[in-house]
Amino acid sequence: MIIKMEDVMKRFGRNLALDSFNLEMSKGEVIGLLGPNGAGKTTCIRAIIGLIPVDNGEITVFDELQDGKNRAIKRRIGYVTQELTIYEEMSAMDNLAFFGSLYGLSKEQIARKIPEVAKVIGLEGRLHEQSKQFSGGMKRRLNIGCALMHDPELIIMDEPTVGIDPQSRNFILEFVKELASNGTSILYTSHYIEEVEAVASRICIMDQGHTIASGTLPELIARIKGDSHILIDVRISSEEKLKELRAIPEIKEAALLDNQYHIVVPGGIIVFDKIIAVLSSQSIVNVNSKQPNLEDVFLTLTGKQLRDEA
Ligand SMILES: Nc1ncnc2c1ncn2[C@@H]1O[C@H](COP(=O)(O)OP(=O)(O)O)[C@@H](O)[C@H]1O
Ligand SMILES: [Mg+2]
Repeated sequence: MIIKMEDVMKRFGRNLALDSFNLEMSKGEVIGLLGPNGAGKTTCIRAIIGLIPVDNGEITVFDELQDGKNRAIKRRIGYVTQELTIYEEMSAMDNLAFFGSLYGLSKEQIARKIPEVAKVIGLEGRLHEQSKQFSGGMKRRLNIGCALMHDPELIIMDEPTVGIDPQSRNFILEFVKELASNGTSILYTSHYIEEVEAVASRICIMDQGHTIASGTLPELIARIKGDSHILIDVRISSEEKLKELRAIPEIKEAALLDNQYHIVVPGGIIVFDKIIAVLSSQSIVNVNSKQPNLEDVFLTLTGKQLRDEA
């Protein structure tokens, strides 16, 4: 077992960032930790690494108790932070060397490792440039490279693709798959469903500090398979009408995004009459149904859309 978190609770003042949170990761797994902003993903990571104490529950990493004092655990983890931690005044090479030395590598080890890491992050030939000059995607890749210098057994990546171009994003996703195929355990957090679908062997969906579901993608989708998903586009939308839809007993969940109502109804139940009665004054322009996906799992379990609110 690489990570085991049992009933972990973490409070910031009155804010419960982790609330009876559970997570298990075996060797070689790629776990996608999916949740909206504020769900508690970063807090979960910081607790695993031992950067913050938790208020309750137990965390073991590599079968050792994480009490925040165990430096041996930290040395086996590569942490790719959500905020860039590279030094922009320094060259890419000096950044890699610096992080290598932080993890206790010798000069010789660092010299041997830099070209190898530069290759995997696609920055060969750019090593002597000041990282300030790099594009957002290159900075992200360098940020990842810094966490790879010490050959960690577990890599934790906290929203590594936020704010970058699609090409760098694809590069990172491919790179995660490549690392995973070599047997590295990876915890990948994101609020982008497509990314988690693309890289994770198992998905843990979290919201408000809880695990609300976990499993493989087919397992998660099977949980809601019986439901029908109806999408209704209108010219005028309102939160009032959304409330009225939610009040219809046959409707399992309803959400509103822009001018589209997304309604979940258990399979076999027909409630079009009632839906149309509520929305008839909203100028319906289109009605569609669709196959459930991971986004619908989240909606069904939380009543919320999981989209980039930024
Ligand atoms: N250092 C902190 N002080 C106070 N509140 C915090 C701190 N870190 C996180 N929180 C709160 O805990 C909750 C979870 O935050 P976070 O773990 O950053 O979520 P995520 O990474 O999923 O966006 C949020 O409500 C956030 O405001
Ligand atoms: Mg975060």
